[in-house]
Amino acid sequence: MSVALQLNPFSASLEAELARRLEVVRWFELDHGERAAWLGARGAEVVAIVAGGHIGGPTELIQALPQLKIVAINGVGFDKVDLALARSRGVRVTTTPGALTDDVADLAVGLIISLLRQIPAADIHVRAGAWPFGEWPLGRKVTGRRFGVLGLGHIGGAIARRLAAFGPVAYTSRAAKPVPYEFQPNVLALAGACDVLVVACSANASTRHLVDAPVLDALGPEGWLVNVSRGSVVDEAALIQALGAQRIAGAALDVFEDEPRVPEALRASPRVVLTPHIASATVETRAAMAALVLANIDAVLRGEEPPTPVV
Ligand code: 8YV
Repeated sequence: MSVALQLNPFSASLEAELARRLEVVRWFELDHGERAAWLGARGAEVVAIVAGGHIGGPTELIQALPQLKIVAINGVGFDKVDLALARSRGVRVTTTPGALTDDVADLAVGLIISLLRQIPAADIHVRAGAWPFGEWPLGRKVTGRRFGVLGLGHIGGAIARRLAAFGPVAYTSRAAKPVPYEFQPNVLALAGACDVLVVACSANASTRHLVDAPVLDALGPEGWLVNVSRGSVVDEAALIQALGAQRIAGAALDVFEDEPRVPEALRASPRVVLTPHIASATVETRAAMAALVLANIDAVLRGEEPPTPVV
């Protein structure tokens, strides 16, 4: 039976469906030595890698699998796959576009409201029995804020449509688009023109650390940063410094540079809301994503065109 390498945990239903099709090796449960031994003995049997967008397909692993046919991403981010290598090897790379757009946009709005109204900390205040001993401090108004969306693709567009109900929306993207929002030529100009900057762009070499210290200073002490894209788009060290010096008001982050490790300075900050890369993590959306992952694998293993290929 051909083999699939599973690089991270999935829902029980997706794991069961994968096991019906292929022998599945839970790669994330093996240590370095076990992986090397396994590849030496059985690497030629692997036809599929299945992984979340945050993990992708490691280059050294793709190079060690001579019969690999598909890297099936359970997500939309393919920044962790060397597409040129995949293309040169005839390896298909597929994602789950459209399936998670609404969930990511919904979480971005939830993070904005949670951050400006301090909902997570207020919840802890009540649960701790502290309410009788002190009123909760005032938060900051959401409606009427100026919002900036970095990257107006499917997800950025869905975020902008939601935020337009709260206040004026500006955006920056590779080019101006026929949308009812103000175009800003670059992220520095966008940061200077908004109160809440939402990072929604793709992660790649050109967007790495796109949100850096000058951008954070343009956002300013009455500005907030929200990231539902990839941790690599924000210079995390610069963000920590800006938060500590109160050069920005706060940040809400669903993604980080070294997941699942999050710097202690962020975990200790009262100015942040933190979530563990859950933007697409709902029952309904993960079921829709799983269906696309399986459809892509089935098509490629039948020698047919997959429904949602990147390469
Ligand atoms: C993934 C993500 O779905 O879509 C992406 O690229 O990063 C997430 O939404 C997550 O990694 C689960 O596999």
